[in-house]
Amino acid sequence: MSTDPGQPLTIRGREADVVFPNRLFLAPMEGITDQVFRDLMIGVGGLGGAITEFIRISVNPIPRKVVAKYLGPVRGVVPVGIQFMAADTEHLAQSIANAEPLGAPWYDLNFGCPAPVVFNKCAGSALLDHPDRMVAMIGTAVQATGRPVSAKMRAGVRDPGRLRELVLAAAQAGAAMITLHARLRTTSYEEPATWSWIAEARAALDSAGYGHVPLVGNGSIAEAGDARRMMETTGCSAVMIGRAALADPWIFRSSLGRPTATRAEGAAFALGYAATILADRPPIVALKKLKQMLRWYRCGGLFLDCPEDRQILLRSTDLEVVLDWFREQARISG
Ligand SMILES: Cc1cc2nc3c(=O)[nH]c(=O)nc-3n(C[C@H](O)[C@H](O)[C@H](O)COP(=O)(O)O)c2cc1C
Repeated sequence: MSTDPGQPLTIRGREADVVFPNRLFLAPMEGITDQVFRDLMIGVGGLGGAITEFIRISVNPIPRKVVAKYLGPVRGVVPVGIQFMAADTEHLAQSIANAEPLGAPWYDLNFGCPAPVVFNKCAGSALLDHPDRMVAMIGTAVQATGRPVSAKMRAGVRDPGRLRELVLAAAQAGAAMITLHARLRTTSYEEPATWSWIAEARAALDSAGYGHVPLVGNGSIAEAGDARRMMETTGCSAVMIGRAALADPWIFRSSLGRPTATRAEGAAFALGYAATILADRPPIVALKKLKQMLRWYRCGGLFLDCPEDRQILLRSTDLEVVLDWFREQARISG
């Protein structure tokens, strides 16, 4: 497998394949990586694939119009998959059937969410204690669609003792790609993620005859050189980037050796993000979404020389105050 993040990657379904233009994925992040955010990231460039925020299946199948809201229009430049999260197979096949006409290129199943509200209902990372149920869900999804089905998981609930069993079970059930978030449910988002678990998962897949199943490494990518480093040190086929993409949307480009953002571009991205949200949502929503990104944002070196400004902006209740700060940054650097 290639260790060059710039190489294309193909995953195979029963009836259709998906070709990603490169090996850098934007991690799904609930409340943040909606269609607006994903489209802006795709516009920046360097992104190979993305996934919707999780769509939770509980008492009923998910109607097509709900999935459509998460997915947005399928434009095809960068493949965007639909992520479902469920506790069992009930309603999964019907949710996929409802989503099929929307034309998303592939489906992803969530076996990683650590939130108590999800865990206590035996969904997300709780399935890591029940590989048989995980297998049933992947198998059901594979039968429900000819498109590829992938699985995104953590390394275990409280220890990585079943990691080998879990990745092999997912591959045997028909997962076309597996993403390993190299943390446990109990370690939540603690730094650093344990990249050696990605190497262990890769070795387990290879030794069991699943060398053709791409493994996406995820966790603690902080800067551009990390993507290639993760691929080289773990043997993973691709890399998924979460919070570092909120810190710097240019990280995908710079991971491919292209120039990073200037301060003016960093300010313009934030202003463009707010403007796009404001086109059909009230200022309070734009403020909330902007603040979620602001917790991490350092694109173009913003906040490096004035870390206290971040806290001031995060405390602000006035969108215009936040926007003025970015306008000022764009003016100074322009
Ligand atoms: C705010 C937030 C929301 C998240 N929502 C999802 C989600 O909807 N689906 C999912 O599979 N993972 C979700 N994750 C986990 C990320 O996809 C990713 O696995 C995790 O952030 C580790 O990557 P990182 O260290 O690069 O941030 C979320 C993470 C964060 C911080």
